[in-house]
Amino acid sequence: MAEGAAVAADDESKDEESTPPSPSDHSKRHRQREEEGRRRGGPRSGHCLVVSSLLFVILVLVSVLFSRSRPDLCVSPYEPLHRTSFLRRDLDGLASDFGSLGVPWCRSKHGKTVEWTSKDLLKGLEEFVPIYETRPIKNNMYGMGFDHSFGLWFMMRWLKPELMIESGAFKGHSTWVLRQAMPETRIISITPRHPEKYLKKGPAYVDGNCTYFAGKDFVDFGSMDWKSVLKKHGISDLSRVVIFFDDHQNELKRLKQALKAGFQHLIFEDNYDTGTGDHYSLRQICDQFYIRGGGHSCFRDSDEARIRMKREKFYEKAVDIEDLCGKGESWWGVRGYMRDDFNHSNKPISYSEHFQNSRFVESVLDVYWELPPVAGPSLTHQTRYDPARAPDPIIEDGRYGLFQRLGLTKFETSVFNGYTQMVYLKISS
Ligand SMILES: C[S@@+](CC[C@H](N)C(=O)[O-])C[C@H]1O[C@@H](n2cnc3c(N)ncnc32)[C@H](O)[C@@H]1O
Repeated sequence: MAEGAAVAADDESKDEESTPPSPSDHSKRHRQREEEGRRRGGPRSGHCLVVSSLLFVILVLVSVLFSRSRPDLCVSPYEPLHRTSFLRRDLDGLASDFGSLGVPWCRSKHGKTVEWTSKDLLKGLEEFVPIYETRPIKNNMYGMGFDHSFGLWFMMRWLKPELMIESGAFKGHSTWVLRQAMPETRIISITPRHPEKYLKKGPAYVDGNCTYFAGKDFVDFGSMDWKSVLKKHGISDLSRVVIFFDDHQNELKRLKQALKAGFQHLIFEDNYDTGTGDHYSLRQICDQFYIRGGGHSCFRDSDEARIRMKREKFYEKAVDIEDLCGKGESWWGVRGYMRDDFNHSNKPISYSEHFQNSRFVESVLDVYWELPPVAGPSLTHQTRYDPARAPDPIIEDGRYGLFQRLGLTKFETSVFNGYTQMVYLKISS
């Protein structure tokens, strides 16, 4: 979206670069920069700290005095942050906390982005809240929560495919979301255990206009004979098909399989951030030094390390430098590992392989768009994902009136806990 486009223009890109600088080069450079900064800062940095702390206290006092719409607001976990060279430089109130540790993203070939705007997202939210209230599976632990349910519904309604394919259905909540978005459109659902099996124990959703490849009929997405399946479903134009992956498989593997079959529109539910998750994701792949907000240093005495250590106390999924870095200062993927299949498989990958993976992804990408979180944590009270690694939310912190007007106060906090940067990709035909 606009955010992506702005970053694209700002991107410290090295297009012609094909061999990666080694991570230790980056660490050394980073350390030099840190030390240089400290030397230059001297007593002035202490003075700046006092001034910025004072400003922050005033800001907090003013916002407490004026925010009468939220009497139950607890003490905020936000603190004034020092920003390293890759951090956003503007401190525009609490909302700027979002993305303050960098939001890496995948570059597309021609810098295109999606057609929908933040206004469309807001309008969509208004429509989706009453739909979500009628969901058959109220407690969808291990499945999608509110943010991604909205994202999936919104994107499907916008893309209006002739066929929706999902891989990973669990009890069927995502199938239900697909159905709400497109009441008449055929669904293909691929999942090892048929959702009807869950009906014996509690709520589940089985769709009447869906072909299930489940139970004894289960075939992995990568082994499916797509030519014959699509022919059976009367589909000849693959640009009219959208695939939704929520199967916790290596996303690079899924991307290659989708490319091979000729699909163009992909949505990945769990686009895990670097250092987290049970499979290699697009977000991890594109976390690179040449992307603004991407790349890391394992230097323990850096601003990034200090910020991460603080944030880890507030957000479950926030990782500190110790957790981010594995052997040999390997920070990419998860501690230098490429995970797959719910982390049942994991392989160490070299930095150079990781770098080449991002170049490959860029070479086939027309669009990369991460769904923003629905609302800031002071509204949702979510404590799981770290806003410092996420794009600005649709409803920013402080806009309690809007949050309430949209009916979002009705939901339990837990439904806002599942955000993991759901992403839409348009890949080359
Ligand atoms: C996180 S759950 C999906 C949640 C669901 N989309 C929802 O929102 O409620 C992951 C699902 O992927 C299924 N799964 C595991 N391996 C798979 C594979 N190779 N292909 C498709 N689904 C798979 C699991 O059995 C599980 O049902």
